[in-house]
Amino acid sequence: MPQPKDVKDYIRTIVDFPHEGILFRDVTTLFADPRGFRLAIDQLLNPYAGLRFDKVVGLEARGFILGGAVAHQLSAGFVPIRKKGKLPGAVISEEYTLEYGEAVVEVHDDAIAPGERILLVDDLLATGGTAEAGIRLVERLGGEIIGCAFIVDLPELGGRARLEAMGMEVHALCAYAGL
Ligand code: PRP
Ligand code: MG
Repeated sequence: MPQPKDVKDYIRTIVDFPHEGILFRDVTTLFADPRGFRLAIDQLLNPYAGLRFDKVVGLEARGFILGGAVAHQLSAGFVPIRKKGKLPGAVISEEYTLEYGEAVVEVHDDAIAPGERILLVDDLLATGGTAEAGIRLVERLGGEIIGCAFIVDLPELGGRARLEAMGMEVHALCAYAGL
């Protein structure tokens, strides 16, 4: 049997999760495969060869798995953006809209210094609400976002256009049409 080579070959689709009619793009199968995980980290880093970063910012929860590995490769620090109430120190917060209702993400207010060069990482870009909240937090601390990197883009949900309209460089390893 030929060995799968593309990141998409390692991503599993779960039908009707978390709601009927949703095709859930499950990256745990990508993360669990030794070749797949290395391929994903290598491809996330591709556009940034030769660039210097101070910090990688990962969005809870799946962005932590990627962000730690990416930060290690870049010899950068790692900064978590967490859901409300999880970080022990002084934080700044941003609200964002979910399918039903609102959510809040937070970052430690001393985690990024003004002028630091930041790579923002998450597993998936859908509406872009989560990433936009993360970008706002980084920018409020004075960080300079050099790029936003994702495994999966769902372009029909508008996240890429939303982030590009904010002036962001968006890098995604693959895209899926449909929800
Ligand atoms: C998922 C995904 C992204 C976000 C994308 O996370 O991991 O972080 O949604 O959606 P958006 O572009 O419409 O904001 P989720 O909120 O399900 O949480 P988790 O990563 O903690 O599982
Ligand atoms: Mg997430």
